Amino acid sequence: MMIQVAPSLLSADFLKLGQEVEFLNSKADIIHLDIMDGQFVPNLSFGFPVVEAVSRLAGIPLDVHLMIVQPGKYIERFAAAGASMISFHYEAALSSTPDLLKQIRSLGVKAGIAINPDCPVESIFPYLDRLDFVLVMSVFAGFGGQSFIPASLERIAAIRKALDGIGRKDVPIEVDGGIGPSNAASVVQAGASILVAGSSVFGAPDPAAAISAIRNSM
Ligand code: DX5
Ligand code: ZN
Repeated sequence: MMIQVAPSLLSADFLKLGQEVEFLNSKADIIHLDIMDGQFVPNLSFGFPVVEAVSRLAGIPLDVHLMIVQPGKYIERFAAAGASMISFHYEAALSSTPDLLKQIRSLGVKAGIAINPDCPVESIFPYLDRLDFVLVMSVFAGFGGQSFIPASLERIAAIRKALDGIGRKDVPIEVDGGIGPSNAASVVQAGASILVAGSSVFGAPDPAAAISAIRNSM
């Protein structure tokens, strides 16, 4: 599967957001937008006005990662704000997971389930037949700049195997947290193909080179 790099805007310079989006338009494949509510995670990020503004300038798909309680309340507005992909956390959704996937897809948006490192991967297996991507967290959701958790590799491989096993080889696994040029190859080897990267891109002396290094890691 083709590797796609999805830089997380959370690590960008918000004083020059327009330039950052133009940079991503020219170098990245997807723009990853982290939405935090101070409840599901102990941190706040940004909301609709920022996503709408980014959407007006973005020439590549917007991937909205909802780290919020009651994600169903906000799905429609993030779709209207320009999201092409929306993921919500399984831990925040539980039994409403199938309804949320249906809701996202009914808006013409790709639907994904995000899963934190301490949630058994088997929890999401019942839904693999009705989603468009899986977001495997390789750090605990909440903050940029954390270190990659090595056990994520087996988790990616287990989900990849389960997807392939039901004939869904085309469904991408996105991996998020602590990804950079040094571990990109290992997550791709495990079965991921959409690589989120925040600090390793925006904190690099040459962000464009960091994106290329991640994309060409295999
Ligand atoms: C963490 C977010 C990530 C984060 C990635 O809660 O979901 O998308 O911004 O940042 P890095 O790549 O720095 O771990
Ligand atoms: Zn994220």
